[in-house]
Amino acid sequence: MTATLHNQQYRLAARPVGLPKASDWQTTSEPVREIGDGEIVVKALYLSLDPAMRGWMNEGKSYIRPVGIGEVMRAGGVGVVVASKSPKFAVGEYVSGGIGVQNFWVGAADDKTANFFKIDPRMAPLTTWLNTLGMPGMTGYFGLLDVGQPKAGETVVVSGAAGAVGQTVGQVAKQLGCKVVGIAGGKDKCDFVVNELGYDACIDYKNGDVREGLKQYCPNGVDVYFDNVGGDILDTVLTRINMKARIVICGAISQYNNTTPVKGPANYLSLLVNRARMEGMVVFDYGARYPEGIAAIAKWMKEGTFKSREDVVDGLDKFPEALLMLFEGKNFGKLVLKVGEA
Ligand SMILES: NC(=O)c1ccc[n+]([C@@H]2O[C@H](COP(=O)([O-])OP(=O)(O)OC[C@H]3O[C@@H](n4cnc5c(N)ncnc54)[C@H](OP(=O)(O)O)[C@@H]3O)[C@@H](O)[C@H]2O)c1
Repeated sequence: MTATLHNQQYRLAARPVGLPKASDWQTTSEPVREIGDGEIVVKALYLSLDPAMRGWMNEGKSYIRPVGIGEVMRAGGVGVVVASKSPKFAVGEYVSGGIGVQNFWVGAADDKTANFFKIDPRMAPLTTWLNTLGMPGMTGYFGLLDVGQPKAGETVVVSGAAGAVGQTVGQVAKQLGCKVVGIAGGKDKCDFVVNELGYDACIDYKNGDVREGLKQYCPNGVDVYFDNVGGDILDTVLTRINMKARIVICGAISQYNNTTPVKGPANYLSLLVNRARMEGMVVFDYGARYPEGIAAIAKWMKEGTFKSREDVVDGLDKFPEALLMLFEGKNFGKLVLKVGEA
């Protein structure tokens, strides 16, 4: 039944030094095998391209094991079940999970790594399930609420503000009654953050001075900083934090392709002076609470007070170059790769 389906895959060929290049990938192609009891075939429709993929390509200890050389590149995605010998999923149902950079995922319906769950395309477009209702949304939602612990009236600063995680963080903080200031690259992204997402202000770090922007837009200091970028911006925000400020270390995209050691914050003693704390978070720790985060954001979306912007690139063969868009700031919204039709 499935033997006529053809699966193209992107496998990791080499561990990149700096930005990933074409030779770090190998493409393979194989027919989809027949499935046994308890197994399903998921046809990939959209794949999630994430900054974290760069880290998964490195060797070494992290919060998840590295992708092995020769393995299909890890990627979240949404797809449709096209074959099933499991009571868990029926043919035609839409799912989200760890599909990988390929056209078809084949395996046990209850595979713990792929971790598929049903999604409802009537509730929101499929791409939104990779954005505000997906992993980045849950990162922003739980990272802000659990680690950032913002209170109404406090000032929240978010870097990577126009991106997938940033969109959620800022909008959740607005829902809570915080003052929200974004940091993003370029006028278009800053305009979007303020005019569409409802941030109070946005600092264009590519065309302006972050320190001056913080002085102007956060005259009472910063209570919560949600850090998506690390590096110089983290260092600068540290000089403006308030007593008992909370800094959420979500990511450090400015450092992911370094060929020199990661640049740590020189201004960390500001934590001491202000009795502040800096805490890392990994979204996978919140897997069991996804329904709670999805329900909250879906409610706001239904009420029309929460937006979701995705940037869709068409074609599995665009994967290597599309991934680089993240590190050049070329994506405008959550970056997804369209790889199939339902
Ligand atoms: N901890 C977790 O569980 C978890 C989960 C998901 C994501 N994350 C992290 O969250 C961060 C945002 O991820 P995302 O999926 O939402 O990506 P994204 O913001 O949608 O896309 C990446 C953006 O990062 C910005 N950027 C790239 N290079 C930069 C640099 N050198 N300095 C400052 N900004 C730079 C660019 O925006 P501009 O044009 O504005 O520069 C780019 O568009 C990443 O660090 C990611 O690793 C963490």
